[in-house]
Amino acid sequence: MPDIPLIPLPRFCRRNNQTFRLTPETVLVADTAEAAAAVTLLQDIILQDTGLALPITDRPGEGSVIRFSGGAQTAEDEGGFRNEAYRLTITDAAVELVADTPDGLAAGVQTLRQLLPEGPGTLPGLEIRDEPHYRWRGMLLDSSRHFFTVDEVCRLVELMALHKFNVLHWHLTDDQGWRLESARFPLLTRIGSRRACTQTNHNTDRPILYDDQPHGGFYTRDDVRRVIDFAARRGIRIMPEIDLPGHAEALLAAYPEFGNLPGYRYQVRERWGISRHTLNVAQETIAAMQSLFEEVVELFPWKWIHIGGDEVDPGEWAASRDAQNRMAELGLHSERELQSYFLTQICRRLTELGRRPIGWDEILEGGPPVGAAVMCWHGNEGGLQAARLGLDTVMTDSAQVYLNHYQADPVTEPLSHGYELPIALVYRFAPVPPGLDAETARHILGGQGALWTEYIPNMKHLEYMMFPRACALAERLWLPPDQCDYPDFLLRLRCHRQLLNRHRVNAHILPL
Ligand code: ACM
Repeated sequence: MPDIPLIPLPRFCRRNNQTFRLTPETVLVADTAEAAAAVTLLQDIILQDTGLALPITDRPGEGSVIRFSGGAQTAEDEGGFRNEAYRLTITDAAVELVADTPDGLAAGVQTLRQLLPEGPGTLPGLEIRDEPHYRWRGMLLDSSRHFFTVDEVCRLVELMALHKFNVLHWHLTDDQGWRLESARFPLLTRIGSRRACTQTNHNTDRPILYDDQPHGGFYTRDDVRRVIDFAARRGIRIMPEIDLPGHAEALLAAYPEFGNLPGYRYQVRERWGISRHTLNVAQETIAAMQSLFEEVVELFPWKWIHIGGDEVDPGEWAASRDAQNRMAELGLHSERELQSYFLTQICRRLTELGRRPIGWDEILEGGPPVGAAVMCWHGNEGGLQAARLGLDTVMTDSAQVYLNHYQADPVTEPLSHGYELPIALVYRFAPVPPGLDAETARHILGGQGALWTEYIPNMKHLEYMMFPRACALAERLWLPPDQCDYPDFLLRLRCHRQLLNRHRVNAHILPL
C-alpha cells in the first residue's frame, strides 16, 4: 500500500505523524476573494463526496479548520496560463492550502479531493509542495462524431480536473456534425447538426455498414457558457476547434456556396474517414469564415482558438478552375501553399482580435500560417520541427495518447480505432524528448490526450476508453520525467481505483 496514493503524484510530499479529523463541526475559512471562490468549490465537493455540509466562516472557533489563502495573482502569461504551484499542509488542527493564483488553489483542491474520506473521517497528516512540469495538459473531446450533452461534458471536465488536466480541446465541428450554434450562420446547426445514420464498422471492412438511427445535437451559446463557467471554476480552460478547410462536410451541407462544386448536394457525412470535399478559396468564403471565427471569439474567453487544418484533400482545388486562378493570382505554386494561404487569413483575423491560433501539424506542409502554433499528432517529429522553427507546439502523438485506440487485444475489446495502445505505452509519453536543447524545449508547451468518438457513442464508453489511461497521461504531464516511475504508479493506481469507483467511473479493468 503506497503511503500517499495520489495521481498525479505531487512533486514533493512528506507524511507527518498527525491526522486531521473531518467532522460536521469542521469549518472553512478563506482570506481573499479568490480563496473564497476555491473554498466554496471545496464546500460543494465535500458535500457531494462525504455528505457533510460545512459552513464557511470568518470566525473559526476551537474546532478543526480548513483554511485557504492567496490566489490573488490573476494575470495570465503570454501562453494564457498562470502559475499552478500550491502548498498543502495537513496537521491535527488544520488543513492549510496556499497558492499565488486561482489555478494553484484549483490544483490544491483536487489533491484534497483525492484525500477525502467517504463521510466523517480522517485525512493523513502531510506536507505537499507541488507544481506541474508542463503548462499545457489537455484532453480533446470530439463532440462531432458523437454528441455529448452539456451534463456529460461537465462530467468529463470534473474527471479531468480530478487528475489536474487544465485544457479541454473541444472539437465542435467535423464532416459528421456541426455542434456550435451560430447567430450569423444559423443553418450550420439547423442543417449541419443532424446526420441520417452512422457507420458501424471500420473503413477497411467490406461492406461498410450503417445503423438506421438519425444522430444529432448542438450546443447553444448558453450551453457553451455553462461549460466554460463550470470548467473555469475548476481551473480548466476551454479551447474550441472549428476545423477548416477540410473536415467541413456538415458546413457544406448547410452552405454549399462555400464549396468547390456548384450545384452539388452535400450531406452531413454518415461515413468515417477523410472527406474529399473542402471549402473553396474565394475571398467571400474566407471573409465568411473570418466572421464565423469572430463569433467564436466572442463566446470563448480563452486565448487559444483551434483552426483545424488537418487531412485536407487537395483534389478539388487541383480540379477547380477558380482555385487554380486564385493560386496564380496569389503567386502560389501548390495546393498546399493555397491551404496555408487560406489558414493564414483566418490566423491573421484571430491575431488581430488578440487571440492565439493553433492548427494540426499538416499546417506546416505549405509553410506554417503566420502566427499559428502547431498541435502535433503525427509522431513527435513535426512538433520538434515546429519548435525548432520557434513555433509554440503541443504534442499529441496519435500512437501514444489517442485514447480512442484499443487498450487491449481487439479480439476481447469493443470496436475501437486502429492499433493497441496499452497504458504502459501511455506512461512513456514525453512531450519534450530527453536531451532536447533548452531553446527548442521552451516552445513545447505540453501535451494532450484525445478522445475521437467515431466508436465512442456514449459517456459510459467514453469513460471506459479514457480510464485508467488518462491517469497515466495526467501523471506524465504533471510530474517531471525523472520522477515518473511506472511500477510505483501501478501501485498507486490500485488504490486510485477505489476513488474512480467512488466517482462511478466506468474504467477499464486493465492493468490488474
Ligand atoms: C487528427 O487526428 N485528424 C487530428
